[in-house]
Amino acid sequence: MSPTPVYQRIALGDITINNIGQLRKLNSVLFPIEYKASFYEEVLHVGEFAKLVYYNDVCVGSVCCRKEVAQDDQTNLYIMTLGVLKPYRRLGLGDQLLEHILKEASDKENKINKVYLHVQTNNDAAVAFYKKHGFEITRTDKDYYKEVEPRDAYVLEKLIV
Ligand code: ACO
Repeated sequence: MSPTPVYQRIALGDITINNIGQLRKLNSVLFPIEYKASFYEEVLHVGEFAKLVYYNDVCVGSVCCRKEVAQDDQTNLYIMTLGVLKPYRRLGLGDQLLEHILKEASDKENKINKVYLHVQTNNDAAVAFYKKHGFEITRTDKDYYKEVEPRDAYVLEKLIV
């Protein structure tokens, strides 16, 4: 007899005014930083650059980015947050969130030059995760975080060609 197949359905969904409370809850569990009202306001206006991820219809993670115009008139995409609840890690959900962002960033209409982010220097899982997707550590920002230890952050970047 063949084994019972494991039901596993992964889907991405929009962040809207109706489910932004889910994002608040996720962030409160996933990150040591409290995000302000302006963060949530911004997230509602970035279209495909902010997403929730569902595992078997349960909301278990998210990604939120910001488009920034740099000094040289290039547009950069900054990943503000990307996280998956602990019991749902190593199932490929983070991959799906990041792949979606990289695909959108590669869309010529978005004119994105690079994608970058900060991560605490002790976050080995996140560094391995981003390196798997072609990101490289480009510098260390000393005392980047004011209220969490360690305070230093790596900047990881990936150029969009
Ligand atoms: N150790 C080593 N490599 C890892 C780890 C780990 N703990 N986690 C992920 N990876 C790498 C592996 O190569 C993995 O592939 P594999 O499982 O086939 O070996 C690959 O990343 C993809 O893993 P996913 O299952 O897609 O990633 P996951 O859904 O577990 O999410 C994430 C990874 C987002 C880093 C998760 O650990 C998390 O939510 N952490 C807490 C929040 C956080 O630290 N977010 C990132 C920093 S903030 C920011 O991004 C701006």
